[in-house]
Amino acid sequence: MAVLHGDNPTHAIVMVGLPARGKTYVARKIMRYLSWLGHKTQLFNVGNYRREHIGSLQAHGFFDPANPDGVRQRTDMALMALDDMLRWFGEGGEVAIYDATNSTRERRRLIQEHCERANARVIFIESICDEAIVEVNVRNTKLDSPDYVGIDPDVAVADFRARIAHYARAYEPVDEQEGSYIKLIDVGRQVNVNLIHGYLGSRLVSFLVNLHNVPRPIWLTRHGQTEYNVDGRIGGNSSLSEWGRRYAQNLKRFYDEVIAPQGPPEVWTSTLVRTHETASILGRQTLQWRALNEIEAGICDGLTYAEIKDRYPEEWRARSRDKTGYRYPQGESYMDVIQRAEPVILELERQKKPVMIISHQAVLRSIYGYLMGHEPDQIPHLSIPLHTVLELTPKAYGLAEQRIQLGPAVPAHAGPSS
Ligand code: SIN
Repeated sequence: MAVLHGDNPTHAIVMVGLPARGKTYVARKIMRYLSWLGHKTQLFNVGNYRREHIGSLQAHGFFDPANPDGVRQRTDMALMALDDMLRWFGEGGEVAIYDATNSTRERRRLIQEHCERANARVIFIESICDEAIVEVNVRNTKLDSPDYVGIDPDVAVADFRARIAHYARAYEPVDEQEGSYIKLIDVGRQVNVNLIHGYLGSRLVSFLVNLHNVPRPIWLTRHGQTEYNVDGRIGGNSSLSEWGRRYAQNLKRFYDEVIAPQGPPEVWTSTLVRTHETASILGRQTLQWRALNEIEAGICDGLTYAEIKDRYPEEWRARSRDKTGYRYPQGESYMDVIQRAEPVILELERQKKPVMIISHQAVLRSIYGYLMGHEPDQIPHLSIPLHTVLELTPKAYGLAEQRIQLGPAVPAHAGPSS
């Protein structure tokens, strides 16, 4: 597991804001980002505790600050989640994300006191949105919420708005005396920070300033099959094979029929010949990223897996034991690839246009792993086949995936697994 660069590794990221301010969206994004970077991260959602222990179907009166029974039960749920969080810190957890409204100073003081016991630093992330954003959030996420299953949408919206009004009566924004905070205003239109120091805080700020909620598709594809793929060799900088050139033509057709009609996308490639050759037929300007180059195989570059096993049996065994952490001599590990792909992820988050990435297996595993919420240990084992486009489209709290194979499947011998 990665180390948070000399910082106290134990942090509690505490969400703050009225309902329908996108807290859970942001909390899940942070969870995905930090887990992907290798930090042991866990989400504690107080609403889930309430749904599990009290029940989903609570009419708005349950959330009224003047309802003593509701207040008591909600406090019990908040404490239960806090206790679990402290226990998790005790088991070696690094970054907890405490997702709830936490809309009063008193509640936040209670959280601070608990976190002090675990020696965890608290960073509040407060989301404040204008009415137009709230309206979209209510329609896009709350109608699918487990709180309103089977309820008429108009009744659900009216109840949810009454719930927001209860919270709004007691709401106190985070102030400077309360410590470290990042305030997100209108999903990144403005970001205010207070007392943010150290590695984790600065990573969070760079991540959060890039977030937006404009839905747009992302397409990921490997280059077409190469001469090296045909021979089962890894690395190198070879050209496309006959099959690979055919894939580029199929990709062009897919681009014209499916991608272009959704608005001209950004097209990103690596700096290697095989991704250029795949992209050039599209007739589009591309952005070339060195960060999208394939994992550097060092002394194993240009070899087949059989040759690596034969010439470097120790290396072969070490890689089989830990494919994520293993670094090729004079080359890279998957963890290195993840770290160098981080600027690509930040730019991907910032982009509001559709994006198409034409890259390589290990890098696309890393990017896809981030987008779909996989931890580093899973990333080297994700399937990113040749001649297949992965189409990722936004849904409530994540992405829906479709895999489109273009043309016949590539023969099995031709796709070494980096
Ligand atoms: C909930 O019970 O849905 C949320 C509790 C809270 O965040 O105040």
